[in-house]
Amino acid sequence: MIIKEALYVISSPTVETCPKPDKPEYAFIGRSNVGKSSLINMLCNREKLAKTSATPGKTKIINHFLINKSWYIVDLPGYGYAKISQSQRRQWEQMIENYLRKRENLVNVFILIDARHSPQANDLEFIHNLGKWEIPFTLVFTKADKEKPAVVERNVKAFADKLRESWQFLPRQFITSAEKKTGRDEILQFIDECNKA
Ligand code: GTP
Ligand code: MG
Repeated sequence: MIIKEALYVISSPTVETCPKPDKPEYAFIGRSNVGKSSLINMLCNREKLAKTSATPGKTKIINHFLINKSWYIVDLPGYGYAKISQSQRRQWEQMIENYLRKRENLVNVFILIDARHSPQANDLEFIHNLGKWEIPFTLVFTKADKEKPAVVERNVKAFADKLRESWQFLPRQFITSAEKKTGRDEILQFIDECNKA
């Protein structure tokens, strides 16, 4: 798929103020600083579409981008950011749960996982919740350029092994680098197939 146009539409504090749910939508979520905004920019071939930052917690609200006038990408704020209060955390959880469970045009959630690390409890917990809510998702391993391929492979395998403990079928997975544009074609092709389904 060729991305001809990528437009920032709106940042919404709640699911109720998101754009009309009349187009297929793909959300990107994962731990704070995992590379969600960078991946979106890489997919869209735009350096500054979604705001990125070396400081975790940059993305705070639900950000909609309209692609080729026909589908939405959504940049969500990350989880697992240590420097927030309990009440902020609860607010985040409520906003995300509401968005994920109420957004009727949501086709797939891309869960971003840092390829440099072994499986983390908060990623597994988030996946567990998506399963409970019956929301379709795929896994995207990020920052692959920052580690040796053998280490990435080991971490990806360890993650699959963890999931196998509670899941009969494994979700699709992509290995990516926003830096090197790895995985771009695969993800766009996946979205294209979903849009046509
Ligand atoms: P929050 O919105 O704060 O939750 O962060 P985010 O998940 O959107 O991460 P963001 O895209 O802002 O990237 C965080 C940092 O990681 C930035 O300094 C990026 O330049 C860097 N980064 C993201 N993806 C990659 C990648 O594939 N390779 C490398 N080397 N760096 C990356
Ligand atoms: Mg971000």
